[in-house]
Amino acid sequence: MIENASILFNKITHGVYVIGVANGSEQNAFTAAWVMQVSFEPPMIAFSINPEHYSYKLLQASGVCTVNVLGQDHLAIAAHFGRSGVKEKMTTYCWQAGKSEAPVLADSLAYFDCKLSHFSDAGDHKIAVCEVINSAELNSGWPLLYSQTGNMDGSSDLYKT
Ligand SMILES: Cc1cc2nc3c(=O)[nH]c(=O)nc-3n(C[C@H](O)[C@H](O)[C@H](O)COP(=O)(O)O)c2cc1C
Repeated sequence: MIENASILFNKITHGVYVIGVANGSEQNAFTAAWVMQVSFEPPMIAFSINPEHYSYKLLQASGVCTVNVLGQDHLAIAAHFGRSGVKEKMTTYCWQAGKSEAPVLADSLAYFDCKLSHFSDAGDHKIAVCEVINSAELNSGWPLLYSQTGNMDGSSDLYKT
């Protein structure tokens, strides 16, 4: 048990990303902060995903995803993709299919198109370890920081204190 867990964990620096997933003709995306580069060669990215997310089912089935980097002006995008059970979640913002077929968000600063390597267990989440197969810068700007999203993800209630 950690005292003031939500305050202490908020001191760990994260950016804010939209993880795009697709399986066949179906696409979805969710906002994620727990994302990091984990290898130079091959280039790899890992992110933590709650297995109850709808996106997890698509990722598990297809093994493809994109990691889209949000910028300072993208709080509304973070909030949109941070909601679950949204009907037609993919119709509000422009996207196109990447090389992997997973959706690339046109507004993002940069994207990484990925193939899932494997999942590892991490408590109530799974770590998706992915190989980057394509990437590009789409727009200029400074990345959005997780600390700037306040309690948008409702995480302050999730720590057992
Ligand atoms: C700022 C922010 C950061 C988030 N970070 C993560 C994360 O790193 N991992 C995760 O599994 N969910 C994270 N979430 C929660 C998901 O985005 C949210 O539950 C989403 O609705 C899941 O969508 P889906 O069920 O359509 O896949 C975050 C939400 C917000 C707003």
